[in-house]
Order: sequence, then C-alpha cells, then structure tokens
Amino acid sequence: MGAIAHSDQVIPAARRRRRGHTAPHGQFFTLTEVARFLWHVVEMLAPASQRRVIDLAAGDGILLDEGCRGGFTTRLDVLGLELDAHVLHARSAEGARVEAGDGLLDAGQRLSDWRADVAVGNPPFGRSRDLLTDGQRRRLLAEPAAPHQIWGSRAVGQDGRFTDPAGNCRVEELFLERALRLVRSGGLVAYILSDGVLSNRREQVARDWVGGQAQLLAAIALPASAFRRAGLNALAHLIVLRRVPEIDMIPQPPALMMERRHAGRGKLPQVLEAMRQDLVRLHQGQDVTGAAVVSGRDLGGCRWDPGFWVGKQTLARVRRDLDDAPELGDFIELLTYGPIVTGGQPVPVVDGIASIRQGDFAETGLHASRSLRVLPDSAHDPRRSRVRAGDVLLPRSGGGALGRNRVAVYEEDEPANIGCFVDLIRLRPGLNPYYLWIFLRSRLGWGQIRSLINGVGTPNISFVEIRSLRVPLLGLEEQAAYEHAYVEDVRPLHRQSTGSHEAGQFAERQFQALVSRLDARLADDCPPYRASLNSTTHSFSP
Ligand SMILES: C[S@@+](CC[C@H](N)C(=O)[O-])C[C@H]1O[C@@H](n2cnc3c(N)ncnc32)[C@H](O)[C@@H]1O
Repeated sequence: MGAIAHSDQVIPAARRRRRGHTAPHGQFFTLTEVARFLWHVVEMLAPASQRRVIDLAAGDGILLDEGCRGGFTTRLDVLGLELDAHVLHARSAEGARVEAGDGLLDAGQRLSDWRADVAVGNPPFGRSRDLLTDGQRRRLLAEPAAPHQIWGSRAVGQDGRFTDPAGNCRVEELFLERALRLVRSGGLVAYILSDGVLSNRREQVARDWVGGQAQLLAAIALPASAFRRAGLNALAHLIVLRRVPEIDMIPQPPALMMERRHAGRGKLPQVLEAMRQDLVRLHQGQDVTGAAVVSGRDLGGCRWDPGFWVGKQTLARVRRDLDDAPELGDFIELLTYGPIVTGGQPVPVVDGIASIRQGDFAETGLHASRSLRVLPDSAHDPRRSRVRAGDVLLPRSGGGALGRNRVAVYEEDEPANIGCFVDLIRLRPGLNPYYLWIFLRSRLGWGQIRSLINGVGTPNISFVEIRSLRVPLLGLEEQAAYEHAYVEDVRPLHRQSTGSHEAGQFAERQFQALVSRLDARLADDCPPYRASLNSTTHSFSP
C-alpha cells in the first residue's frame, strides 16, 4: 500500500524510502520475506520455468527483484511502472526493469503486447479522493481504455464514463482491474489487497466484477506484523486470481483460504514459512487448521475473506460433531442485555448497585468488587437486567472481551446489574451454569462462538446466535463436578488474583486444566468426570 500526493505531481521524497519503514506519502514497500512468500504461492499454484511479469505500482521493484532472485522469472522478462521519479532514482541499477509511468493509465499498448503471464502488485490502498490527482481523474474520465468497470454503476455516469462522485471508491481496485486486463488469458494476478476489498459489503460489486473475469485460486490473510511499523498499520490479504476468457465454460477450481496468523516481533519469516508449508498441504488435499478449501461456485455474490469461510466450515464441522446435542435456547429462562443509555457515562454512586461491565471480566471469573456502582433503579439499573447468583454473563461484542471469550458466572448474593454490551443468560434446571461456562471455553463451545463472530468489524454475537449454540448434555452429576472443581480449585485463587499476579496465573492454569479436561471428555478421550480434579490449591503459597 502506498499513496501519492493530492497534486498532479508526486511530492518529492525528503529522503530515500527504506524497506519496511515510514516514508513520505505512505509509500510502504513490501518486506522481502512477504515478496518471497508471494512468489512461493504463485509457483505452487502455477509452476512454470519462464514467466513474463508486470508490476503496475512497482515502487523500488521488490516484487520483481525477488521474483528474479528466487528464479521464478528473469530480469529480461519483467517490467514495472512507478509514478514517483524519486523512488526510481533511488533504485539500484542492478535491479529488475522499472520505468517511469502511471500504472493505471500509461503504456497501454506496450503492456498488452507484452502479454504478461503474471501481474504482481502491492498497489496503493485507499479512497480515490485521497489518492488520485485531478490529472489522473481527468484521464480516467477521458480515456476509453482506463480502468473503472470494477467500481460498477456507483462510479459511472449516464454516459457510461467514470465519475466516482464522492471519491469513495478504492484505488487498489483500479490497479486490480488493469492487471486483469493486461495478463494473458490463463495468466495469474497475485495482488496484496486491503482486507476490506475481500470482506466489505460495499465492495461486493468489485468482487462480482472480478468474478466475471477470473477465478479466485487463493486468498491468504497476511500476518498483521507484515504491514505494521511506524506510520503504517494495515491489514492485508494476498489473493491469486487466474484470468479466464469464458468464465462459465471453464470448471472453477476450489479456492485455498487461509486465516490470519499471529507473527510476533521477529517471527514473521518463520510464520510465513509455516504458512507456506501448510498451503502446500492444503493444496495436496490435507486438512490444515485455520484453513479451508472453498468451492468456486460458492464464492459468487459472497465475501472472499478466509476468516469468514474458515469460520463457516468450522461451525458446520463442530455442529456435525454435536449433532444430537440440544440448543442452548432450550435451557434459557431469561436472555437479556445490559442497558444502553445514551447521553453520557453513568455517575458513580458510592453505595449504589454494581454495574458489571466488560472490563470486570477476567479469564477465571468476575472481579465484581471493581465494578462501577450506579444509582439504584436509575436508567443504568433496569429491573429486567438485574443479575442473580448463578446467572451466566457474556460480553456481547468487542475484541477484548467476547473476542477473548471471557464468560463468567455471577457468584455474589448482592444484587447487581449488567452494563452495556454484556448479556445475561439465566438457565432453567437441567444445565449447570458452571458447566456451560467451561463448555463455552472449550474447543467445541468456543469453536461455535468464534465461527459466529467471525464477521467484518467488531466481533458480535446476537441473541439468535446465542440460542443456537449446541451444548452436549452431560448428566447433572457430572456437570456439577465441574462446578465443584471450579469452586475448589479455581475460585480461591481467582479471589486472590487482584492482589497477587502469581495467584492469577495459577488460577488461569487451574481453569485451563478444567477446560482441557472437558475437551478430552467431549472427544471421548477420558471417562466421565465424577470427582473434582486433584486439588492443587494447597501447593500455592502467595
Ligand atoms: C505500496 S507501494 C508498493 C511498491 C512495491 N510494489 C512493493 O511491493 O514494495 C505502491 C507504489 O505505487 C506507486 N504508485 C502510486 N500510484 C501509482 C500509479 N498510478 N502508477 C504507478 N505507481 C504508482 C507509489 O509511488 C508506490 O511506490
């Protein structure tokens, strides 16, 4: 991703762009390991000994250079265009051929004669109002071959020409359109694109247009750290498309989808290598966690982000495993949400009623003593959402609480309420709340929630989705054994955890042992749970 300035000219760079560092105009260049990864994916999907390659927004030519270095193409077979003369100037003469020019508009005849086998790219990400100059707009309007079909009717005037009135359309899509027009039939486009192009509803028109020209072969979420450094924080996917002449005549291959993986500081090369190996396995038909193979037929009119598809397939698999399990809705006596009060924060009242918020949830339970207190019977304390001991509380949205699966059972006798974005589940007899809590943390429970919240934007779970969760019904005695184990082995440590970090860590380990125990039980790997786990609390001395 990168940007050009608002004027007709790119503002000269104050200093040489550095690999992976902030540069003027946000011209962030692809890290070498990401460029190498892109080429490995291309080679896996379409092995070839010789390729003609274009890059329409080549920057300092890293994608082309890396293709040559890895032997995926040669210096004689590549051509890049770059708008910023300063970037070109700073390039080493040893590198692949990159010429001055506008990748959206220039060298049309030459590039079509070139008939590239592959178009690679990490084009500028962003809205046209921010990235296109007036001069480019004029040319996009005037030149019949200029790309804009991908933006659909929202950016086309009565005369069939490009207008993009609000300047909201994404510029990276124009590069994608031009790349697809310039590769030969059967050729590939390997592009790094912002997450939104794959997942946002308003970009469906672009996906539909692409779907009419090409087959999606792979969509791979790149680790966040690949595009996070000073001045840059973007989420991106690598997608690979095959251009086909008659889209309906050619059988659509399944698309390989891989969810985003975490790559901590300094770990990006190893994580990309592990992803590469897993993609090879997936390509060979093996199962890979966090990845899916999606039939091309299902992709039409739909999102393309792997998170969505992996979530959908995981949910189907988990639900198959829990085929005969009842739905949580069958056991719900009350399901309600915390008050959403507009017009300011609640005023704390020293002797007021506790209002449990997302921040009060820890891994191992609630810290109700820390809760904000609000005026009883005020708008922040409606009777309908008053909490009782034994209620299961579930943060409804947000990456910090729901996204980390922080559930808890309310254990106090003191009346309390819930704050906004917390849901209350009161159960009927037959389902033990502690057992439900531990189940929701387990592989099968969390697997369902995770799949359901795998949407665009903030993680969120609706009442319908909560009711639809399948819960395997163990005998009441066995369910109670999980409650007993929590009360004996986790709760005392949890209560000490506000004053002791070690106690908190120990509580988490004990809690995790319970969850693992349930995982094993539900996988039929261990016998029913009757007694409490061997209590180890005595071995902890704060
Ligand atoms: C995100 S950088 C990526 C560069 C390189 N492909 C890489 O992967 O490191 C995008 C580059 O596109 C250039 N650029 C922006 N608009 C352009 C255009 N219309 N034609 C050619 N290059 C353009 C920017 O100057 C920047 O160098």
